[in-house]
Amino acid sequence: MDAMTTDISALERDLLARIDAASDEAALEGVRVEALGKQGAISNLMRTLGQMSAEQRQEMGPKLNGLKDRVGEAVVVKKAGLAEAALEAKLKAEAVDVTLPAAPARTGSIHPISRVMEEMALIFGEMGFRLEEGPDIETDFNNFTALNFPPQHPARDMHDTFFFAPDAKGERKLLRTHTSPVQVRTMLSQKPPIRMICQGRTYRSDSDATHTPMFHQTEGLVIDETTSMADLKGVLMAFVKAYFEVDDVEVRFRPHFFPFTEPSAEMDVRCDRSGGQLKIGQGKDWLEILGCGMVHPNVIRNCGLDPERYQGYAFGMGVDRLAMLKYGMTDLRPFFEGDVRWLRHYGFSPYLLPGLAAGLDG
Ligand code: PHE
Repeated sequence: MDAMTTDISALERDLLARIDAASDEAALEGVRVEALGKQGAISNLMRTLGQMSAEQRQEMGPKLNGLKDRVGEAVVVKKAGLAEAALEAKLKAEAVDVTLPAAPARTGSIHPISRVMEEMALIFGEMGFRLEEGPDIETDFNNFTALNFPPQHPARDMHDTFFFAPDAKGERKLLRTHTSPVQVRTMLSQKPPIRMICQGRTYRSDSDATHTPMFHQTEGLVIDETTSMADLKGVLMAFVKAYFEVDDVEVRFRPHFFPFTEPSAEMDVRCDRSGGQLKIGQGKDWLEILGCGMVHPNVIRNCGLDPERYQGYAFGMGVDRLAMLKYGMTDLRPFFEGDVRWLRHYGFSPYLLPGLAAGLDG
């Protein structure tokens, strides 16, 4: 009898200890089944009551019932504790700490086109050119007629123009095919001497590795009483040296045709393509980089100025092409795809502004 009582106390201590140690609900359930399940230690003990004498039963009955109750109670308490702890852990894991500082912002970068336009504005700014602006949607007059493109002239088709539907008056607006309409706007609104550049988007229906339907130009115009092709050449050579950051550069002017300049030329710079790398300034090859010429007297007249008194020069260049040349990109299309990986690779730090003294590379 005493031995059995000792066994019961030992069993109780053991069970309570294991219940206490159960680290999750599954472990607790295991202990419960071992003790109180059909074949559990306590259930087996309860079954022995039947074979006991009345006397024994009277003594052992309450002991075993007490054991069963205390163990059962301990399981219930432990179960509630585990559930609470689990909930606590879940809440902790899901908590948002609103006092945490915001995630560090990714530094954005300056798109090569913006960068190159800034560089160009800076170089021409140093030479006294003012920045003018004009809209992307232009009139046929500003984009073509004033610039001496005769009506129905094939040069209008050469530009692969995007036209809008004609308005009630039959006037057809268009997406400017070049920045030259800003020349017209400036001559119509300002008195000479004029010394301006303009930069911006231009549009032509064209698309391949080196042409996109939207591209960018930088344009320059000088109107005064005495200007010459020599002035034009000097300005453009100074530009090329500053832009490509080379001390000496050979250029050549090839006769060309633009309706709005006479004479007209395309300017090439010396370059070297050997070894698959392009070097500007020296070498055996030539690279065309811009169009230019003396402003056609008709354009000056169309813009309300007297061509007997005023003349001038103009030049226009593709910003995208010059960006590709300077920064070694081979395909124009990713410029406008907005792929952040490309932007991270080719973009410029917003903190490094181009400057002529410090060097354009910031
Ligand atoms: N507007 C011309 C073009 O887009 C470029 C140019 C500008 C040529 C000014 C001469 C003078 O092709």
